[in-house]
Amino acid sequence: MSEPTPPLAAPILDTPDGSRTAYNARFGEAYGSRHGAAAQARHVFVEGTGTHRHPAPRVLEVGFGIGVNARATLASAAGRGVPLHYLSYEFDPAPRDVLAQVARGQEGESHPAWQALLTRWPQPEAVEAGGARLEVVLGDVLEAELPESWATALYLDGFSPARNPEVWTPAFTARLARTLAPGGVLATYSAAGHVRRALQEAGLEVERRPGPPGKRECLRAVRPA
Ligand SMILES: C[S@@+](CC[C@H](N)C(=O)[O-])C[C@H]1O[C@@H](n2cnc3c(N)ncnc32)[C@H](O)[C@@H]1O
Repeated sequence: MSEPTPPLAAPILDTPDGSRTAYNARFGEAYGSRHGAAAQARHVFVEGTGTHRHPAPRVLEVGFGIGVNARATLASAAGRGVPLHYLSYEFDPAPRDVLAQVARGQEGESHPAWQALLTRWPQPEAVEAGGARLEVVLGDVLEAELPESWATALYLDGFSPARNPEVWTPAFTARLARTLAPGGVLATYSAAGHVRRALQEAGLEVERRPGPPGKRECLRAVRPA
């Protein structure tokens, strides 16, 4: 008699800053940087968009993944006592166990919004707790109706342009630019020339900045006020 096939588990990977990421077998890539998943979340996304200083951040994320960016952002807002609205899109929710294992003992793990989300996961309801509203919309972000002129920060965090090209096209980038509020900032770990040009063509002011551990550069792009 053959054994039942186990579910496709996402192997958990330790990273040098003491945080974890996981491997996604469908895309053949890790969700976050193997050189430091928490460091990437903080440097590229939270600080790259200025969310760590914003008095009431509204964050839109492309690719919720395993929630590393979400926890880093929850921790930052809670640490400063400011309200946070976090809206993320995901078409292939990772198993709850993976989210929980990656988060164990890490920043934002004890935030009541994270705990509430984990309890319901993967139900698409928004949770509100501890001064934060955390909402993960399940489905293809390309098909989603995105808010207009809303986000103070946009985390463009698909898998690599080579493996997940649809979220990096000029057409989709132009839609993303319109979700930014005037003065809002998009950040991404990619520094690829075609990504930079797509952001410029979308009317954003693009800057290259030093990358997180293991990467020379990353990008931030501002919607002019
Ligand atoms: C690099 S991972 C994101 C990591 C995540 N931000 C985190 O902090 O853990 C990319 C994510 O984007 C999701 N994704 C890719 N294309 C998508 C699409 N068209 N619509 C929705 N989600 C998508 C993938 O399923 C994956 O979870």
